[in-house]
Amino acid sequence: MRLKDKVCLITGGAKGIGAATAELFCREGARVEIADIDQASSREHVERLKGEKGQIVASEVDVTNADSIAAWKKDVLARHGRIDVLFNNAGISAVGLLHEIDEAIWHKVMAVNVTGPYLVSKAVLPVMVEQKSGVIINMSSCIAEIGLAQRAVYAATKGAMLSMTKSMQVDYAPYNIRVNALMPGTIYTPFVEDYLQNAYADPQVAIEGLKKRQLGPELGTPEDVAYAALYLASDESRYVMGAELKVDGGVTGGKPY
Ligand SMILES: NC(=O)c1ccc[n+]([C@@H]2O[C@H](COP(=O)([O-])OP(=O)(O)OC[C@H]3O[C@@H](n4cnc5c(N)ncnc54)[C@H](O)[C@@H]3O)[C@@H](O)[C@H]2O)c1
Repeated sequence: MRLKDKVCLITGGAKGIGAATAELFCREGARVEIADIDQASSREHVERLKGEKGQIVASEVDVTNADSIAAWKKDVLARHGRIDVLFNNAGISAVGLLHEIDEAIWHKVMAVNVTGPYLVSKAVLPVMVEQKSGVIINMSSCIAEIGLAQRAVYAATKGAMLSMTKSMQVDYAPYNIRVNALMPGTIYTPFVEDYLQNAYADPQVAIEGLKKRQLGPELGTPEDVAYAALYLASDESRYVMGAELKVDGGVTGGKPY
């Protein structure tokens, strides 16, 4: 029960890493609130988690829409009266050469991956400042530190999240709020599955290629990242501030050959 009774908000909690984190946090006794645009997957997920030690509520929230976030915040505070953890996890990808990516896609990826965490943090921070306690986990990616083919637009958003994390930590440390970033490598989620199905004639060949980029033999699982989020959310990481936690199978650790 590493998160007993902590009120934990997870954006993009219906699928992939967010869903695995919601499940783990629930098992660790948290009061979990997931926010996602995908209501069908959210409902399914919440149904599956009935009977866990914690509690979980799903809300339809678009992290790019301030009104939607404000309504969610109001409901969360009515249910719990406080917010202990915010995991800014919701994100989307864009694949292609920079000059071929439509401007509309650039704005969309920026909106979900960067403006979203800004808007949700902006709503939640006054609560944490008032409490004089809180934890924010921002989803970056190992791509913030390495070059990867056809990902310049996506990489720009994850680099922004890493930089934002470090300066947020400086500003909110006096309020006993910790802000850290997660930097996953390739985690096998619907996000990666969609990309492989759409971009490659043979996804299996692509998976073998992805494995060659890393030191570990297998791609990551959503649970690998969820355990890292659990550490950052819990009091066990009380001395971890403004950090980037890599969960990348060694992608940034060295060359396998
Ligand atoms: N999977 C990877 O290899 C990988 C690696 C590094 C970083 N990441 C990051 O991890 C995060 C989660 O990725 P994932 O692989 O679990 O993706 P996913 O697509 O499996 O899940 C993302 C969730 O976010 C939700 N979402 C999308 N737009 C939203 C919006 N506007 N408002 C609210 N919810 C929204 C989706 O409905 C979905 O449930 C993303 O920020 C992604 O960039 C993923």
